[in-house]
Amino acid sequence: MTQDQLKQAVAQAAVDFILPKLDAKSVIGVGTGSTANCFIDALAKHKLEFDGAVASSEATAARLKGHGIPVYELNTVSDLEFYVDGADESDERLHLIKGGGAALTREKIVAAVARTFICIADGSKLVPVLGAFPLPVEVIPMARSHVARELVKLGGDPVYREGVLTDNGNVILDVHNMSITDPVKLEADINAIVGVVTNGLFAARPADLLLLGTAEGVKSLQR
Ligand code: 5RP
Repeated sequence: MTQDQLKQAVAQAAVDFILPKLDAKSVIGVGTGSTANCFIDALAKHKLEFDGAVASSEATAARLKGHGIPVYELNTVSDLEFYVDGADESDERLHLIKGGGAALTREKIVAAVARTFICIADGSKLVPVLGAFPLPVEVIPMARSHVARELVKLGGDPVYREGVLTDNGNVILDVHNMSITDPVKLEADINAIVGVVTNGLFAARPADLLLLGTAEGVKSLQR
């Protein structure tokens, strides 16, 4: 199976998992990226079986609307049963690195509101220790150099993602060469740097269910 086929398989598995639990009032949180796009396309076939969605990025909102799925502002939604999103890496405790698509802050906000966070990924994303994928950090533009110096003190090697502005108007530093043995602590330490909006570690609020696309079929890991 190709990587795209694995993404489509986990996206369909996520739709199959949530569908029986949805009703006409359900609003679903939807992530960002190529795997999340597969989920949106699979979900669209059932758009009459739920109310609408909250999007974690402008790109996702546009794709949802393109399918005729109503998109709500998060502030207008009081209950979000599910958030479904991809990841750049996951460990076996479902701590994630996200933000390869620069949507990490809105993703983390929607994940915080949702009662169940379902992560969908192809099998290559499961790793024993996080950190081979450079850790994205969203930063207020005027703080970029200050934050980069502080990240070096934490042992990382930050690289400015040239030409990228987030949906919130901020910049991204990708931190290389971090061996992340304590993701909960590192997430908090980086977020404590003045000028950081948030970082791509989803460890304080990990996924609840990981659906992994493999050649042998979709595997599920639970916390
Ligand atoms: C975007 C993300 C994505 O979930 C992550 O980059 C994975 O993307 P893809 O599904 O394209 O591999 O965090 O900010």
